[in-house]
Order: sequence, then C-alpha cells, then structure tokens
Amino acid sequence: MAYFDQLGQVVTVLGTQWGDEGKGKLTDILAEKYNVIARATGGSNAGHTIKVDGQKYVFHLLPSGVLYPKNICVIGNGCVIHFPTLLKELENLAKYNMNVTGRLFVSDQAHIVFDYHQEIDGQQEEQKGGAQVGTTKRGIGPAYTDKMSRIGIRVGDLLFPDRFTAKLKANIAHHRRMYNLDVDFETEAKFYLEELLPQLKPFITDTVGLLETYYKEGRKILLEGANGTHLDIDHGTYPYVTSSSPTIGGICTGTGIGAHYLNDIVGIVKAYTTRVGAGPFVTELEDETGEKIREIGGEFGSTTGRPRRCGWLDLVILRRTIWLNSLTEINLTKLDVLSGLENLNIAVAYDYRGTKLLEPPSDLDILAECKPVYKVMPGFSEDITKCRTFEELPEAARNYVQFIQDELGIPAKTIGVGQGRDEMVWV
Ligand code: GDP
Ligand code: IMO
Ligand code: MG
Repeated sequence: MAYFDQLGQVVTVLGTQWGDEGKGKLTDILAEKYNVIARATGGSNAGHTIKVDGQKYVFHLLPSGVLYPKNICVIGNGCVIHFPTLLKELENLAKYNMNVTGRLFVSDQAHIVFDYHQEIDGQQEEQKGGAQVGTTKRGIGPAYTDKMSRIGIRVGDLLFPDRFTAKLKANIAHHRRMYNLDVDFETEAKFYLEELLPQLKPFITDTVGLLETYYKEGRKILLEGANGTHLDIDHGTYPYVTSSSPTIGGICTGTGIGAHYLNDIVGIVKAYTTRVGAGPFVTELEDETGEKIREIGGEFGSTTGRPRRCGWLDLVILRRTIWLNSLTEINLTKLDVLSGLENLNIAVAYDYRGTKLLEPPSDLDILAECKPVYKVMPGFSEDITKCRTFEELPEAARNYVQFIQDELGIPAKTIGVGQGRDEMVWV
C-alpha cells in the first residue's frame, strides 16, 4: 500500500492527548510491515486494545505488534515492568496458540515493579485526601521514584541472585520506614528467583545493543508510545500526570535510539478528547453529549475499567503536542463515534480572563480558569464504518477533518472509522 511506502525505517506512534487515543490499533496495523516493535516508557498503566477478526486483545506491557508471529517485540529500558502481569499476558497469548519464545526481549536496564510498589501507589493516593491523581494503582509512580532515587531494582539484577537479594532487602526496608507493607522479604525473593526467573531468563537482554544491531541491519523498527503527551511528567498537567515521559524524548531515552534515527512520528489523535483520572480538562462535557460519546465510543479504561471523562476535541493542547514531539502526521481515530451528533465543537483557543490563548498555560491554576473558545461545525449522521477513502466520507465529516488539518498544519494521513484492523480511511 502506498501509505507504507512513504514511511522511513523507524516509525514512532505516540499519544497526543491524555492516553487511550488508539495507539494500539495503528501499531498493530503498521506491525504487518514493521517487524521490530519496541515499547519505550510506562508500564502496565497502559492498556492498548486491538480487535482482529472480532477477537479483542488488550496489551499492557507487550508491544501491540506481537500478534504477527514473526515480529520481534522489545520491552525497552525506559519501561517499568510488573512481571506477574507480563506472564499473564503471555499466558493469554498461549491460549491463542501464540508463542513469543525467541522473539520477545526485555531490557536488562528496565526497572522492576513489585507488588509492594502497587500497594504504595494505593496508600499514596489515600494519603492525598481529596487531591488524588487517580493513578491506575499499578505501582508506576513508586517504581519510577525508586529509579530516580537510584535505589531501584533493574531486570538485570535478577541474573545475579546475591545482588538482587541484597537490593530487594534494602528496598523493602526503605519503604517500610514510610509505609505499612504486607510483604515478606524471604517469600518475595524466593518467588522472583525460583518461580519467575526461570520463565523470564530467556527474554532478558541488552535491548539497546539489540536495537542498534537491528537498525544497522536495515530492519524496520516501530516504536510504540504509551500513555499520552499531556500525561508527561514535564509537559503534562503536573501533578495530574504519569511518572515518565510519554513524549518523543522518552522514546529516545527509553530505547536508546537517538533522535537523528527517527523518521516518521505519528501522533494518534482521538476525534474528541478523553481523560481517565483527575486533572484539568478544559473541553470536558458533563452532560448528555458526553455520556453519549462515552457510550458509543466504549470509553471505559482498558486497564482499570473506569469510565473515561469525555469532551470535545481540543486544538490548544494538540498545538503544543505537535511542537513537543515534532509530529510528522496524525492518525485521527474514532471519527465514527461522532456520527449522530447534531453539531461538532472544536476548541480553537482558550479564553483566560478575556485573553485568547492558542497554547495551554503552564500554570495549573490559570489553566483551571480557562474557558474553551469553540468553532461549531455541522455534524454528520451517516454510518462511516465502511468508508475506506477520504472521498467516501460524508461532506460534514470531511470538513471536520479538513478543519483540524488546516488549523494544526499537519496532515491526517489515516482516519479510524471502527475498532477493527481494516476499519481505516487511507487518505
Ligand atoms: P491506546 O491505549 O491508545 O492503545 O487506546 P485504548 O486501546 O486504550 O483505547 C482505544 C479504544 O478505541 C480501543 O477499544 C480501540 O479498539 C478503539 N478504537 C481505536 N480506533 C478506533 C476507531 O477508529 N473507531 C472506534 N470505534 N474504535 C476505535
Ligand atoms: P495508554 O497507554 C490513559 C493516567 C492515569 C492517571 C495518571 C497517573 O493506555 O494510553 P499512573 O498509574 O500512570 O501513575 O497514573 O495517568 N494514565 C493513563 N490514562 N491511558 C493510559 O495509558 C494511561 N497511563 C496513565 O489514569 O490519571
Ligand atoms: Mg489505553
């Protein structure tokens, strides 16, 4: 297909909003031609859903390209890994007769998320009183905190049992000083070294060197982002963010692939906006339209099942996203969900006390006062799930997409019109 021919050797897929834009679906589609797929950041807070031939798969740690049996999957050094979750994903795949032996590689530099990190995540949220972040309670924040405090335990430590045991003991003792934890050091060490390690050993390797080799061999590499740009620890709506960098910098650091080697950087943009967890959301709809979008779009968390907050498309955050990630194109997803709405609103600016802002303010209190300035466009009512070319879309849908492209100055080369692998408009 012509679309694939214009892409370079290394393609990155990134979330442009607050996650759940549909990164998994495009990754899975591209994975037909891009045979090395790597995750770079985040952990099992991610939930990437793929629908193939009516069958639904949800991946938390495995790259979404794993369904093609020949593909090589890498969990990069920037990730934090809860191994019981990874093993459960592998077990699920085995039910569909899919095996990853010899084609899954887990970075020895990635950090381990233990059950007690998840417990700490929950306790931290409780201690925040009414100011919860609304984390996924997957231990992401506590594990990255250990990494940054230089007391984290890396996957490679498992290969040296004495070192692993000493580090685990110190880590548990450290956390016990602050939290009441239901963890027995001896049992935990035994579980990792005797039960998990034999299953994991074949996967653990230096993935930085591996990716360098693959690149130099000329293999096509697909880098799958997790979470979303406005959940970025630096650039998101801090403190209502995750604890890593889902933006392009995190992709480079989290795989060891330098910026110069990245070719296409595809931003996944949901045709409206959703957010799970707390934090500012200027275009949020707390009315029947929001409920309708949630229902039709199936907007319930892939990881936690929580209802996602829904709202109109926000070009203000997307302008910043394009700059932060140097996006080269967008994949507009879930356009089909908007069918049946009389009007479609798009936030083109924020109004802050009479001042028009085109990009989001960095201060959260100022952001909380911002009101959306909407462009109102006529909606469409046709079922567009069978459309495969731009011309087949109804005029109002075409105008909606055209307006977004014109405002953002970047092309939407693919448009999602359904969950399935084939439900895509190729522009
Ligand atoms: P991710 O975390 O970015 O991979 O996104 P999620 O998988 O958490 O959420 C996106 C949801 O939308 C999944 O259930 C996808 O199957 C679904 N999806 C993706 N693209 C489309 C689309 O174009 N139309 C519809 N209706 N659903 C889509
Ligand atoms: P994918 O990859 C949506 C959100 C959580 C919470 C905040 C912090 O599926 O798009 P954390 O557990 O990371 O400490 O939670 O970040 N969050 C996501 N929201 N999709 C995700 O991933 C998310 N990953 C984290 O809901 O608000
Ligand atoms: Mg998701």
